[in-house]
Amino acid sequence: MHLGLFLFPAGHHVAAWRHPDANAAAGVDFAWYRDLARKAEAACFDLIFLADGAGARSEDPEVLSRSAHAYVAQFEPITLLSALAASTDRIGLVCTISSSFNEPFHAARKIASLDHISGGRAGWNLVTSASDSEARNFGLDAHLAHAERYERAGEFADVVHALWNSWDADAFVRDKQAGRFFDPAGRHVLNHQGRFFKVKGPLNVPRPPQGRPVTVQAGASEAGRDLAARTADVVFTAQQTLEEARAFRTDLLTRAGRPIRVLPGLFPVVAPTRAEAEDKFATLQDLIHPDTGLDLITGGWLRDVLAKCDLDAPPPELPPTNGSQSRQELLFDMARREGLTLRKLYLRVAGARGHQQVIGTPQDIADAMQERFESGGADGFNIMPPLMPQGLDDFTALVVPELRRRGLFRDRYEGRTLRDHLALEGA
Ligand SMILES: Cc1cc2nc3c(=O)[nH]c(=O)nc-3n(C[C@H](O)[C@H](O)[C@H](O)COP(=O)(O)O)c2cc1C
Repeated sequence: MHLGLFLFPAGHHVAAWRHPDANAAAGVDFAWYRDLARKAEAACFDLIFLADGAGARSEDPEVLSRSAHAYVAQFEPITLLSALAASTDRIGLVCTISSSFNEPFHAARKIASLDHISGGRAGWNLVTSASDSEARNFGLDAHLAHAERYERAGEFADVVHALWNSWDADAFVRDKQAGRFFDPAGRHVLNHQGRFFKVKGPLNVPRPPQGRPVTVQAGASEAGRDLAARTADVVFTAQQTLEEARAFRTDLLTRAGRPIRVLPGLFPVVAPTRAEAEDKFATLQDLIHPDTGLDLITGGWLRDVLAKCDLDAPPPELPPTNGSQSRQELLFDMARREGLTLRKLYLRVAGARGHQQVIGTPQDIADAMQERFESGGADGFNIMPPLMPQGLDDFTALVVPELRRRGLFRDRYEGRTLRDHLALEGA
């Protein structure tokens, strides 16, 4: 089983920052992140993951001012991962890069540099971004259409992968005697010309230690699945039920025709007894402000529509979003399936945001993970502790030993690179 730690400043529960024990300034506290990364490494996790938004997810200052969740105040992820690379030794370092608001040459150069700095532990989560408010930071009045931004993402991924092949592994001969720094035969000029990008190359960073740092994706729409099947090594996803998880993974592997590690998110609330675990969760639920709840289920889209609705009535039929298509579908399918009102829906997703949520004993959590893993619903999990560091400490102290007792999770690192940890071939 492969485990990622989905890092989120104070924790994944939308109200985590308001918890009496929380570090509300965690988003810009380097020592905080360093300690969390070291805890995950001590537990032999495959990777840590930093999500990102190129700006806050919505623009309503009243609503935003109540949330520490909407990418309002936190470090730029590659800058942070580069510092964490120097504070860790084995754990993989993955962060989000938007193909909508970046240039592929910059992305290739930054991730290749991180791969060198970390000795082969770098990965990137290629996203198309999902909000108009981000787009307005990059000269646009509204975000690119879903289909167009996925087409751009496909070309973006191809250019980045091609730029990582700019140099043969042994190109840099650095022969002081002969005065030859690199072998010209080992240098490959790209000359890419596409619909969105024109990139000559080569990259001015030598071949990354992993050859191709790990490429992650997290889209689940038709376009998202096709792109992942063609270019990803790892896919993050949100899957509510076992059937949905199995269907998603089977569909993806069929489309790809090659190994991809599928890591759904898991929001574990664990304690020695179920009652204690329920109490922990209830404490966080009581801290939710209605404004942040509504924002959570809309991701900033359609907020104006829902704000006019009766919170204690079922959600209305909504037009398709130009935001996260699969996420809107997942949340409102859940509301229909479980007969939830709007208020009950945001209380239901305030913790896990549509990912699998398990509240219980270490055995309960391990059972849920083992079932998904052994029935083809997952290759591992992206762990989303509700509150940091308590939720992570509980998971590593209570659940990880249970997983090891069942022979499901490593007790030491065998390899050095992220590809080694994920048992992915070199590229
Ligand atoms: C675990 C996970 C992590 C994600 N991280 C980010 C992120 O950091 N930034 C972002 O803009 N979108 C992120 N997304 C959203 C996806 O990139 C994508 O927009 C979403 O899954 C909807 O995709 P679809 O429109 O193809 O259905 C994440 C999704 C998942 C499941």
